[in-house]
Amino acid sequence: MRKNLHQRVYELLEARHLRGTALFVQGGLILLILANVAAVVLETVEPLAVAYGPAFDAFEYVSVAIFTVEYAARLYVCTAGVREHFRHPLWGRLRFMLTPMALIDLVAILPLFLGLLFGLDLGSLRMVRILRVLKLMRYSPAMAMLGRVVYNERRGLAGALVIFIVVLLLSATLVYYVERGVQPKAFGSIPDSMWWAMAALTTVGYGDVTPLTTIGRIVAGMVALLGIAIIVLPVGIIASAFVDEHKRRDFTVTWSLLAEVPFFRQLMAPRIADLVRVLRPRFVRTDDVIVRKGDEGDSMYIIASGEAAVDLGPGREPILLGPGQFFGEMALIERAPRSATVRAADECKLLELPAKDFQELMQHHPELGGEITKIAAARKAANVGAPSSAAAPPS
Ligand code: CMP
Repeated sequence: MRKNLHQRVYELLEARHLRGTALFVQGGLILLILANVAAVVLETVEPLAVAYGPAFDAFEYVSVAIFTVEYAARLYVCTAGVREHFRHPLWGRLRFMLTPMALIDLVAILPLFLGLLFGLDLGSLRMVRILRVLKLMRYSPAMAMLGRVVYNERRGLAGALVIFIVVLLLSATLVYYVERGVQPKAFGSIPDSMWWAMAALTTVGYGDVTPLTTIGRIVAGMVALLGIAIIVLPVGIIASAFVDEHKRRDFTVTWSLLAEVPFFRQLMAPRIADLVRVLRPRFVRTDDVIVRKGDEGDSMYIIASGEAAVDLGPGREPILLGPGQFFGEMALIERAPRSATVRAADECKLLELPAKDFQELMQHHPELGGEITKIAAARKAANVGAPSSAAAPPS
């Protein structure tokens, strides 16, 4: 019984495919996080804070109560996951408490408890509540991906930060020596000059403090140019890591989809790897048209899950194709327009093989190519031979 509850709460909080109670629980938590962020923002509007102060406070207490129950529940059930790392009843839970998401959950509730326990001024801790928005990372794959990218690239980013600090110090020092005589107020010390250096290096350039001497202006020009190079560094690191992460994710998704297709089971792992690199996963909703009769053929599709209906025209029964079957090959083989319209009969996971890669596959994997050509020929013969309700679909 206890194990059941443990497992059930775990699934409610961690389920990825949201439906039923899990949808209610996780959807409710997402709404509560959004409402909290809105409350923190609105509370800074003086008239609203005055008029609805008690309501804001009550909302804060209720939210923290719910987030506390959520935190306790996550801590209770973290041992039920598949990761061995968190399995131990004590060490597993301690490890879980140190994960970034668990720390964010703690930060979301801590200010109120610190305020209540130590009589701290809540006002100063109020703004920490805006960090609750980070709780959304759990539900947003894009935010989670960004977090992973920054973590994976931490060394490169730390290097870029060190370079930035060094250049900031050198620029501030240089401009301090050049300008302090003319503008003792703005450039009276190196820390004062850092404000200007920061604005110039980040290419923000407020213009509230500007060098007046000729040498000062030359230095400013150089610093501005350096700024561009220095800002591009972390941006480039994050952008390329983002693309890599995307590719890696696509690769994993494609591989697992391909594993579901019996047609490819005959291939050896290195060949599957070749194929995974060129296949693009595509998800379509019921009734979406995937290929349209008469259009030019640019891809072939393999069904990983779901069903697609081949519509051969008036008076012909649509032909249903299921997992493991493919379509869209005829136009590519014959270099002719699409012979039929194919739409999703229900939600489908497809693997799309672009025409160029299709031709390569046919050349490099003749055994597979031969089979595809044979099936395409049988389909063509069935279409020509049967004016109404095509015979058993060749697959
Ligand atoms: P293509 O002509 O490129 O686009 C429409 C696709 O429908 C076609 O390729 C085949 O993959 C598929 N198709 C056409 N006729 C049949 C059939 N008789 N049985 C199964 N699939 C078919």
